[in-house]
Amino acid sequence: MDFLQLTKDRFSLRKFDGRPLKDEDIEAILSAAKFAPTAKNLQPQKIFVLKSEASIEKLNNCTRCGFGTKTAFLICYDKNECWKRIPDGAESGILDMGIVATHMMLQATAIGAGTTMVMLFDLQKTVQEFDLPENIIPVCFLVAGYPAKDAEPSERHLVRKNIENFTKEI
Ligand SMILES: Cc1cc2nc3c(=O)[nH]c(=O)nc-3n(C[C@H](O)[C@H](O)[C@H](O)COP(=O)(O)O)c2cc1C
Repeated sequence: MDFLQLTKDRFSLRKFDGRPLKDEDIEAILSAAKFAPTAKNLQPQKIFVLKSEASIEKLNNCTRCGFGTKTAFLICYDKNECWKRIPDGAESGILDMGIVATHMMLQATAIGAGTTMVMLFDLQKTVQEFDLPENIIPVCFLVAGYPAKDAEPSERHLVRKNIENFTKEI
């Protein structure tokens, strides 16, 4: 599939058909996470696969953006493993996880599944519910599944600024 077309085809899927993601599709999505670039190739990603009823209940306790999914990923990084810039100590973790999540979202689209990235979650509850140690920093959930028959991208999905609006030749 043409890459640019894939980036247009991906949209935030918020209406699922009720099926959990098949194991082979989870595997494919996790493989895309594996091949994401990370600073200094330190690969600090820690991804929790939420499949059980109990895990999905926890997800719904942490965010109102579960959208009835049966499968989700909690994308975290290990702050002890991520790259830190010297001398100011800036951490690569959040940026690394943005790339990891993007790989996963595009791969999901490529195999006929869909996702929504969810950053609207209660951080404290997430740490509690998933019993995360202090070094594991949650960045986002990806709720995932197969599109319902009447699932549509939001009206604004392809409303994008023109390239000239966000670039400047200098
Ligand atoms: C960093 C980030 C955080 C987001 N958080 C949420 C969220 O908490 N809930 C939600 O429904 N969508 C969330 N989204 C999805 C965006 O609203 C969506 O990507 C954007 O409106 C463009 O629509 P599209 O994904 O269909 O192209 C998030 C997206 C990004 C990139």
